[in-house]
Amino acid sequence: MKPEQTIVAAGFVMIGLALVYTLFHGPGYDGLPVSINALPAQGAMQSQHFITPDMKRGFVSAGAQLYEGHWQGLEALHLTDELKKKLGLPMSLDGLLIDEVTLRSAVSGLLAGDVLVAVNGRAVVTLKDLVRESRKLKNRDNASLTVIRKGASMNFTLRGDGPLGFAQVETAPMIRPGAIMPHPYRGECTRCHPIGATGHIVPDPGGVILPPPPIRAGAALAHRDRGPCAVCHLIIN
Ligand code: HEC
Ligand code: HEC
Repeated sequence: MKPEQTIVAAGFVMIGLALVYTLFHGPGYDGLPVSINALPAQGAMQSQHFITPDMKRGFVSAGAQLYEGHWQGLEALHLTDELKKKLGLPMSLDGLLIDEVTLRSAVSGLLAGDVLVAVNGRAVVTLKDLVRESRKLKNRDNASLTVIRKGASMNFTLRGDGPLGFAQVETAPMIRPGAIMPHPYRGECTRCHPIGATGHIVPDPGGVILPPPPIRAGAALAHRDRGPCAVCHLIIN
């Protein structure tokens, strides 16, 4: 597909998603755009009116949760209840879901879908645990990883070309202030997402992202909690 076609196709997919959401959640889900034509023109969306300095700088909540960890080619996520249900894993299983393996971790025999439960015999349940345990091994060239695969516990040896280094962690992707939630409600957006005008989904190909309107100081919350108002809204007096 040509780039323009890709953009148009992506636009349709996003409009489709918005419509599907409206179908299942009823019209007016958190004020989901009822009429896409009613959106301000692209120029207006980019005007100072909608992009505040806060949005330009971006916002990461001090308490933002970690979402993804990377270490020697393995990518790991918190094994949330939502994921356990989706993957049919026991609710009592605690660990990190390995959702992608490449490089050294693939060579070690790990597979995507494994649940990492220990590094060198020490339990890892959260991404912070993974950072802590991997830091202890950062100058070594091998580590033993214990995973649960199809209910069985298995050990693999991760070997580096040199020192293993330690795990790098990230939050959920940055989203635009008016982004539509593609997943079930998980709590206020800023608990997980950095918010900013420079995130992945710029420019909004389908124009389906509703820019947050300016609100009056002291305005009542018109939707579910999404975090500090000024992250997304220009506050006027
Ligand atoms: C508990 C954490 C959490 C909360 C709260 C949360 N999200 Fe997310 N969101 C994620 C994660 C993790 C992803 C990555 C893909 C996935 O798991 O669905 C994501 C993906 C997204 C994406 C796709 C981003 C991309 O670049 O792929 C958008 C848009 C989004 N969320 C919007 C929202 C909005 C709007 C809210 C608040 C109403 C919200 N999210 C609340 C965790 C969260
Ligand atoms: C993560 C971004 C985000 C945060 C944080 C946020 N809002 Fe919003 N708000 C929006 C978006 C987007 C809309 C447009 C309609 C919608 O999606 O619900 C909106 C709409 C509104 C509206 C309706 C305005 C109108 O003219 O239609 C009010 C009022 C409002 N928000 C109040 C608040 C208050 C008060 C807070 C803080 C306690 C807050 N919002 C925090 C994104 C946000």
